Amino acid sequence: MRYAISLAAAFSLAVANVSLAADGAAVFKQNCASCHGETGKSDTAAGKAMKVPALAGDAKVAGMADADIAAVVAYVKGLAAAK
Ligand code: HEC
Repeated sequence: MRYAISLAAAFSLAVANVSLAADGAAVFKQNCASCHGETGKSDTAAGKAMKVPALAGDAKVAGMADADIAAVVAYVKGLAAAK
């Protein structure tokens, strides 16, 4: 029973991540792709001119947990509000 519950939890987490990534694609295209490129390889004119690092395959990006990313964004938003 406990196994079935944790399997269900893992499955819903995986589904949540898939829809999160779909949402992120639109946000990325709008806010990040001009430099980092639609493929995340930073192969745009701006990316090359500014030597923008590729995000696809980036170890720092891959190493961050979803919760850490949300926490960093929340923290940085708080910094702007505090000034
Ligand atoms: C105007 C161009 C530009 C845009 C737009 C932009 N970036 Fe960047 N990004 C850069 C540059 C330049 C660097 C490298 C900065 C450095 O190393 O000093 C960078 C670095 C990064 C890094 C660090 C990568 C590493 O491992 O060093 C991440 C993560 C990142 N950007 C994410 C994003 C995200 C997410 C967005 C959209 C919300 C975004 N960037 C939008 C130019 C841009």
